[in-house]
Amino acid sequence: MGICDSTMGLSNTLFVMTFLLSGAASIKSQAYFNQTGELPCLFPNSQNISLDELVLFWQNQDKLVLYELYLGKENPDNVHPKYKGRTSFDRDSWTLKLHNVQIQDKGLYQCYIHHKGPKGLVPAHQMSSDLSVLANFSQPEIMLISNRTENSDIINLTCSSTQGYPEPKKMYFSVQTENSTTEYDAVMNKSQNNITELYNVSISLSYSFHPETNNVSISCVLQPEPMETLLLSPPYNIGTKPREKAQHEQDHIRWITALLLILIVVCGMVLLLTRRKWKKKQPGPSHECETIRVEEKESEQTEERVENPEISAEVQCGGNILKTTSGD
Ligand SMILES: *[C@@H]1O[C@H](CO)[C@@H](O)[C@H](O)[C@H]1NC(C)=O
Ligand SMILES: *[C@@H]1O[C@H](CO)[C@@H](O)[C@H](O)[C@H]1NC(C)=O
Ligand SMILES: *[C@@H]1O[C@H](CO)[C@@H](O)[C@H](O)[C@H]1NC(C)=O
Ligand SMILES: *[C@@H]1O[C@H](CO)[C@@H](O)[C@H](O)[C@H]1NC(C)=O
Ligand SMILES: *[C@@H]1O[C@H](CO)[C@@H](O)[C@H](O)[C@H]1NC(C)=O
Ligand SMILES: *[C@@H]1O[C@H](CO)[C@@H](O)[C@H](O)[C@H]1NC(C)=O
Ligand SMILES: *[C@@H]1O[C@H](CO)[C@@H](O)[C@H](O)[C@H]1NC(C)=O
Ligand SMILES: *[C@@H]1O[C@H](CO)[C@@H](O)[C@H](O)[C@H]1NC(C)=O
Ligand SMILES: *[C@@H]1O[C@H](CO)[C@@H](O)[C@H](O)[C@H]1NC(C)=O
Ligand SMILES: *[C@@H]1O[C@H](CO)[C@@H](O)[C@H](O)[C@H]1NC(C)=O
Repeated sequence: MGICDSTMGLSNTLFVMTFLLSGAASIKSQAYFNQTGELPCLFPNSQNISLDELVLFWQNQDKLVLYELYLGKENPDNVHPKYKGRTSFDRDSWTLKLHNVQIQDKGLYQCYIHHKGPKGLVPAHQMSSDLSVLANFSQPEIMLISNRTENSDIINLTCSSTQGYPEPKKMYFSVQTENSTTEYDAVMNKSQNNITELYNVSISLSYSFHPETNNVSISCVLQPEPMETLLLSPPYNIGTKPREKAQHEQDHIRWITALLLILIVVCGMVLLLTRRKWKKKQPGPSHECETIRVEEKESEQTEERVENPEISAEVQCGGNILKTTSGD
């Protein structure tokens, strides 16, 4: 702090005192990444001094000026370029708003208020605020890396969550079976963007199925650093032996298709036979298939009917309707 090399004892003592005072009066403030943070000054102004008689300014911990209000007028001359156009002063609450907050903006800020009296500028108030910056991690998402195969009952999963700050406390898989819920802690794989300083995190799981295990529901849990709320991934559900189930369904379909084909062939044959008999006399309903309607096509030449019969027959058979038109 440079107290030792003091030549002006009084001013140094004052400096330490104000430092202690300001440390005690520090306010905690929180802002979300890319949003607006607040740096309050909390000036009571008990004497109701007009802004026209005051000089206000905010500095960061490196003494760079964010904003200055000089006797009621904004003075941009001393403002550091990185804060230009990013601040606005709320006269009612004596609060400086810092827009488009970045992770790098976290830290301590000082606000100073001086009163311009007849004897020059007199310190009137000082306040320090400690800004912390947060970014909400995205909802964790589980991705299947390798599926179960014929040879192995192992699946590999990863779970990832992006664009958060600060580093999360913990990340784990929660595997729920009929009987139990098991937590699988994993080492977090972190990567930090070198410009935004936001983190992406991921964990991996190699899960081996127990032969008797049926339904498994896997979810992924992220515990952010200010541990208010846990972030939960949508569950990743795995049912019972899905390959065999699919096989069964395929077998069913094949079986039904074969039956239908047989029925169609039988119907076709019966129809042929029926038609041949019908040419000689009226056919009766046959055993397998039922002739519903035998229609003669409307024709004005009714006499020619016997010589050139155009007959269409609809035969109902096993729920299927076969439409046959006898041509030549
Ligand atoms: C910051 O916010 C703006 C809108 O407010 C948005 O367009 C932009 O994508 C955000 N940037 C980041 C890095 O989130
Ligand atoms: C403070 O001063 C302003 C004028 O400068 C006046 O309008 C206001 O009523 C005063 N408020 C109090 C609480 O004295
Ligand atoms: C971040 O998450 C907290 C808690 O879930 C929520 O209250 C807040 O609005 C979120 N902020 C942003 C910027 O998404
Ligand atoms: C994984 O395998 C199951 C059946 O074993 C299948 O239902 C599922 O679609 C597969 N998932 C992927 C992503 O390949
Ligand atoms: C699944 O993960 C295990 C353990 O990390 C690894 O040994 C194995 O090779 C992985 N399998 C596949 C198919 O990626
Ligand atoms: C960590 O994640 C990165 C990006 O997602 C990936 O390239 C890398 O292989 C992962 N490292 C480990 C050890 O899983
Ligand atoms: C983090 O994830 C985001 C979104 O998936 C991606 O655009 C970005 O490149 C990732 N950053 C790092 C450092 O891996
Ligand atoms: C950020 O990282 C990228 C590669 O990941 C590199 O090309 C770039 O120079 C880095 N920028 C800074 C400011 O370090
Ligand atoms: C679950 O419990 C049932 C009955 O308690 C038992 O038969 C079965 O083996 C258990 N399954 C597993 C995976 O432990
Ligand atoms: C597995 O899940 C299905 C539906 O998700 C449910 O009908 C069945 O009862 C479950 N079986 C067990 C053993 O929990």
